[in-house]
Amino acid sequence: MVCLGNICRSPMADGLLRKKVVSEGLDVEVDSAGTAAYHVGNPPDKRMQATAKSMGCPIDMLRARQFVVSDFDRFDRIFVMDESNRTNVLSLARDEKDESKVEMLLNLSHPNQDLEVPDPYYGGDQGFIDVYNMIDEATDVLIDQLKK
Ligand code: 4NP
Repeated sequence: MVCLGNICRSPMADGLLRKKVVSEGLDVEVDSAGTAAYHVGNPPDKRMQATAKSMGCPIDMLRARQFVVSDFDRFDRIFVMDESNRTNVLSLARDEKDESKVEMLLNLSHPNQDLEVPDPYYGGDQGFIDVYNMIDEATDVLIDQLKK
């Protein structure tokens, strides 16, 4: 799961998918990263932590890291939150195989629409709840795919 800072959207997606993977008993490695290095080593944004906790999915133990080229080797699927993340991740792809791993997260729940999970960082509390709900819907679809 990849966003810009790895402190709002992608840790929420990481935590929620991890929780669903465990509850479904699936053997899937889940992680998240940011395309930028501003927040490396930091816990998720307090507002995202609070929303996550209120939804029963605490993410305070996660720490931000930057996306690295070796993530293309480590993961089969790489989900980005918005077009800017997609451009940044694709700029690191070494070949078509790397490129083929990159998907917009919301294309799981809204196929072929290239909808974005909006960056909640500069907005109000509702933005964090909206992010949670979008990610919840998309990761439910992903869990169904993984179960098959
Ligand atoms: P994220 O949100 O990409 O969902 O983690 C942001 C976090 C920090 C910044 C921007 C977006 N920032 O500019 O510091």
